[in-house]
Amino acid sequence: MDGKGFETDGLVKRFGRTTAADGVSLSAPRGHVLGLLGPNGAGKTTIVRVLATLLRPDAGQVRVAGIDVRRDPAQVRRRIALSGQHTSVDNELSGRSNLVMIGRLLDLGGHDARRRADELLSRFGLDDAADRPVATYSGGMRRRLDLAASLVGRPEVMFLDEPSVGLDPGKRDELWQMIRGLAQDGVTVLLTTQYLEEADALADDITVIGNGRVIASGTPADLKREVGGHTIVLRPADVSDLDPAAAIVARVAGREPDRSRRHELIVPVAGDAEFFEITAQLRGHGIEVSELAFRLPSLDEVFLSLTGTSTTDAKDVA
Ligand SMILES: Nc1ncnc2c1ncn2[C@@H]1O[C@H](COP(=O)(O)OP(=O)(O)OP(=O)(O)O)[C@@H](O)[C@H]1O
Ligand SMILES: [Mg+2]
Repeated sequence: MDGKGFETDGLVKRFGRTTAADGVSLSAPRGHVLGLLGPNGAGKTTIVRVLATLLRPDAGQVRVAGIDVRRDPAQVRRRIALSGQHTSVDNELSGRSNLVMIGRLLDLGGHDARRRADELLSRFGLDDAADRPVATYSGGMRRRLDLAASLVGRPEVMFLDEPSVGLDPGKRDELWQMIRGLAQDGVTVLLTTQYLEEADALADDITVIGNGRVIASGTPADLKREVGGHTIVLRPADVSDLDPAAAIVARVAGREPDRSRRHELIVPVAGDAEFFEITAQLRGHGIEVSELAFRLPSLDEVFLSLTGTSTTDAKDVA
């Protein structure tokens, strides 16, 4: 992958008896976002740490921005940024001082370091808070400052390990916009996440791992097709029609619909024949619907089918 993006080929990393990465091959070309998904303990952080030169691989090829991580880790470090759960900003200093200091550490002159800090503060909506100590920042502001800090050195490749944990939906949307912006600027991004919706919204490609091995990879749409089947979602206009509608759905689909969402019936089916049959029978019984969908499975459903773990379970453990 000529000087662009990142790539692992047969990556192995062991910790004693645990093989955290067991022959992992994945890649992303320049400017792409790769989503790395897997249940707790699957090996995501290990892979990120090997790519970021914080851990040495035991076997396999690992190239970042075209450079072999074993041959020239210092050169790799100059071209990457890593943003994880543990942030490195100083609480006592203001957001601006943190960014200027990082610029100076990266050998920018005083003028350039201040200019870069200003640029990033305004890009991340931190102008107003720029001169307050970081200790006074909210969680979302800290996360933005952390991202800004990792961008001071204009990285070519960025590793984001579960970046949206603990953000409320509004802040998470802002983060997503920033990640999209990075990719548009040509930065290659590896994103690990427990949120399938996040991978679906951001990733060009997804690699699913379990127990250190790649289980599946492809675009979000590829993965949904691979798992196969479709899902019908039905909401009767009148709540009192829920039971008769469920009976029709059960009869046609050959299984009881999921009723865990209020006033909604969800059932997996093999193809559109069942969908048309259900529609016809609802009509025949005079049942009106306010919502009726025939769709590919959600990425959550794909994840469950691939890993045997639902993401909701995974989040409970985390
Ligand atoms: N430094 C270490 N020493 C020993 N074992 C480790 C170390 N780091 C990771 N492991 C083990 O390697 C496996 C993969 O861990 P890793 O942190 O990469 O998983 P993960 O996919 O990031 O999980 P999570 O979703 O919980 O963050 C686990 O079994 C873990 O216990
Ligand atoms: Mg992890």
